[in-house]
Amino acid sequence: MKAAIIHEFGGPEVLKFEDAPDPLPKPNHAIIKVLACGINRYDLFLRMGGVQKQTSLPHVMGADVVGEIMQIDDSDSPFKIGDRVIVAPGFPIDPSEWNHQPENFAPSYTVTGTTLWGGYAQCMCVPTCFLITDKTNLLAEQCATLPLVLVTAVHAVKTLGEVKPNQHVLIQAGASGSGSMCIQMAKALGAKVATTVGDDSKIEVATNCGADLVINHRKENFREKVLEWSEGKGVDVVIDNVGGGILNDNLMSMRPGGILVNFGLVGGVKDEINFAMMIFNQYQFRGSMMGSMNELREGFALVEAGKIKPVLDRTFPLREASKAHQYIEDRKVKGNVVLLPWE
Ligand SMILES: NC(=O)c1ccc[n+]([C@@H]2O[C@H](COP(=O)([O-])OP(=O)(O)OC[C@H]3O[C@@H](n4cnc5c(N)ncnc54)[C@H](OP(=O)(O)O)[C@@H]3O)[C@@H](O)[C@H]2O)c1
Repeated sequence: MKAAIIHEFGGPEVLKFEDAPDPLPKPNHAIIKVLACGINRYDLFLRMGGVQKQTSLPHVMGADVVGEIMQIDDSDSPFKIGDRVIVAPGFPIDPSEWNHQPENFAPSYTVTGTTLWGGYAQCMCVPTCFLITDKTNLLAEQCATLPLVLVTAVHAVKTLGEVKPNQHVLIQAGASGSGSMCIQMAKALGAKVATTVGDDSKIEVATNCGADLVINHRKENFREKVLEWSEGKGVDVVIDNVGGGILNDNLMSMRPGGILVNFGLVGGVKDEINFAMMIFNQYQFRGSMMGSMNELREGFALVEAGKIKPVLDRTFPLREASKAHQYIEDRKVKGNVVLLPWE
């Protein structure tokens, strides 16, 4: 098969489109023909060596896979050859933890394509229990924008953010893959949503996802705008995918008792916290990591009901994986970018 392989950690140029060994069939696994594979910011982090303890080289990454079953070795599985499936974007890689509930709290849980080879390839091997049937009726490239950001949005916005109808919610980076999905999730829960973007050209994407207020953070102070928007009270929940550099402004955008859910670190892994501010305002800080199989199914039920839509920016053939990474690194992305392995 062809794959986009990394032999070393580094910039986008380390992604090489090459021949790679076909995956071998294994008990309780299926071989998937990859029709489309979404790219996440996480992949850039992995490519640069951010999770290198879990990744041995050479490596094929890729978490967001939509494909067809080519081969299956599991007589108990409901799947058969030719079925259109979505691969879970994360699962416990230790088979003794496959039944761990919720899956994203299992010790060996990891993003798909971190330790085992992922979807930047024409084929991949996946445990059958981490496949779901694709009932979305979407094109493969549209569907491949969804799994990772969708499960993240259900876990971060609904489960941990506890977002309720009519609440005021601030979502950072509203034109990003994860931000655009979190806006849609918060709107599906009936909330009022403010979001930030770094360029006016991204306002439309965030608005189309349902944001009620879009703030260009390069032109305006988001904390001041959000306080004004919530009539001085502060928002109930902040969903943060940026991390370092904006922690205090995020906290000061919230009402007392507000919940800050963080799941991203594009702004850096460290920041300073003022304990007095946390205590006197009784803020709650919650870290969020991916989501469970049930949360993934819940997200896809919203897609099937038409309440959440894919935000496909553009596709690249797999042979141009390095160009696609550069596009995301340059902060040009509006929604999600998808690789097509057979083009
Ligand atoms: N823990 C989890 O479960 C989980 C799940 C999904 C994503 N994540 C994390 O969430 C973060 C965002 O992921 P994504 O896939 O949504 O990213 P993405 O689509 O590449 O978007 C990231 C956006 O963040 C904004 N940003 C703000 N400050 C930035 C900075 N200092 N450097 C670069 N970009 C900055 C940029 O938008 P503007 O130019 O508009 O400001 C950028 O386009 C990543 O850290 C990712 O690993 C974590």
